Amino acid sequence: MPADAQAVEPEIHSQPVQAQAIIDPPGPPANLLGFLSFLVFGSPRDLTRIYIDLAREYGDVVRMGTGPWRVYFVSHPDHVKHVLQDNNHNYGKQYAFNELLKQVIGNGLLTSEGEVWQRRRRLAQPAFHRRQIENFVTTMVEETTTMLERWAVLQQADEPFDVMAEMQNLATLIVGRALFSTDLSMGYTNTMRQSLRFSMEYLNRRMRRPLSLPLWVPTPTHRRFRKATRLSDEKIFDIIRERRKNLALNTDGPNDLLGMLLAARDEETGEGLTDQELRDEITTFIGAGNETTAVTLAWAWYLLSKHPEVARKLHAELDAVLGGRAPSVEDLPQLPYTRMIIEETMRVYPAAWAIGRGIVADDVIGRFKIQKGGMMIVSPYITHRRPDIWDNPEGFEPERFMPERVAERPRYAYFPFGGGPRQCIGSTFALMEAQIVLATVGQKYRLNLLSGCTVEPDPIFTFRPNRPVMMTLQPR
Ligand code: HEM
Repeated sequence: MPADAQAVEPEIHSQPVQAQAIIDPPGPPANLLGFLSFLVFGSPRDLTRIYIDLAREYGDVVRMGTGPWRVYFVSHPDHVKHVLQDNNHNYGKQYAFNELLKQVIGNGLLTSEGEVWQRRRRLAQPAFHRRQIENFVTTMVEETTTMLERWAVLQQADEPFDVMAEMQNLATLIVGRALFSTDLSMGYTNTMRQSLRFSMEYLNRRMRRPLSLPLWVPTPTHRRFRKATRLSDEKIFDIIRERRKNLALNTDGPNDLLGMLLAARDEETGEGLTDQELRDEITTFIGAGNETTAVTLAWAWYLLSKHPEVARKLHAELDAVLGGRAPSVEDLPQLPYTRMIIEETMRVYPAAWAIGRGIVADDVIGRFKIQKGGMMIVSPYITHRRPDIWDNPEGFEPERFMPERVAERPRYAYFPFGGGPRQCIGSTFALMEAQIVLATVGQKYRLNLLSGCTVEPDPIFTFRPNRPVMMTLQPR
């Protein structure tokens, strides 16, 4: 039996629940000074370390803050399942960060709730079916190959480059073409790409500093933010209008995600999405799908450079299955180790490192009282590192994701894409993209971290590296 399977038995809080009184969860004493410092200076950069220490000290359910600023944080897989799946109606999207997010990506799939969300999910789901996503594999290979043509010049000059910036660029181009068959590097849509990137960076800064001036105050940054949003919206609305015009003329549009969303009709009402709803979904897909996938790929290259034995196994698999040619859809099941590397990367550095919810009504988790009105946090990063579930949690061991070992773990021991009804709609897209990029690049190059380059994850909206991940290329 694999070592990590033995630890699955829950060791903590195994007492019968009925025999115990329902009590407030333990947690650090309310600290007014700490809270004020959080409001003024923002969240500490070692937030993940703080959560790990809290879980270690107080157990599976931790309470922080007080009154309306009460925040709970659960890390046991059973409790994560309770929040995301079993009692998901009690854990909604009404919380401060979601409101902030809405200002950038609108009231789309990620941020909406209730009937609005149900309708959007019904309409968008078919576009993310595996068969549909497979149509984008060629696009993924093409964009990666074009990037490699540029990399050949870097390699000849032995010039170091930031792999995070490269992966971000690549992911944007791929999602842009999959969404509306448009090359986001072209002048027209480049504005949209840059505007959206600026908006996401603004969002990241705001997340760190909750006590910022409201957006309506015309500071230079806020004016830039408004302008960026207006510019990208103009481009998106232009594309939508053009496509509607073609549809009205009975001209078949491209078989992309926008085409599928334009054609989608609600089974119950027969209605499609309005222009504003389409704009919100497009911005959501670019916002939610681009940075997360890029962060995952950047960490994959980083971890591979730190673990040459894993890189060697990757290269052996690629050589045996592909022998130098570009990967296709049919090759993906034959590249299990490549996929396990992605899965293990998302365990160690989950791009969505924390998932927040607003607590709708009082609840009980384990033997602990959860009060309505506060915020609930589940964190893939913390659960993915629980030593009672994962043997050597700090290690990078793709073999943990061999099917028989996965089957031995509780479902919510690993949840990089969330879970329950709000589970990531783009998970198949992201996994395919990451597998294709790793396979296409890995056939040609070994990526080496520049000596002296140290990076840590920066726990903001996504889990991106805190500074450029400088690498050089070594041809294989
Ligand atoms: C490695 C890449 C990705 C990661 C780690 C990731 C992670 C997540 C997580 C954790 C959630 C759940 C959020 C919550 O419960 O509040 C989510 C939701 C979502 N993701 Fe992803 N995602 C990735 C890629 C993508 C891609 C490629 C797309 C689209 C092209 C996408 C679109 C969405 C949308 C629309 C939602 C909201 C779903 C709903 O609430 O119904 N994601 N993602």
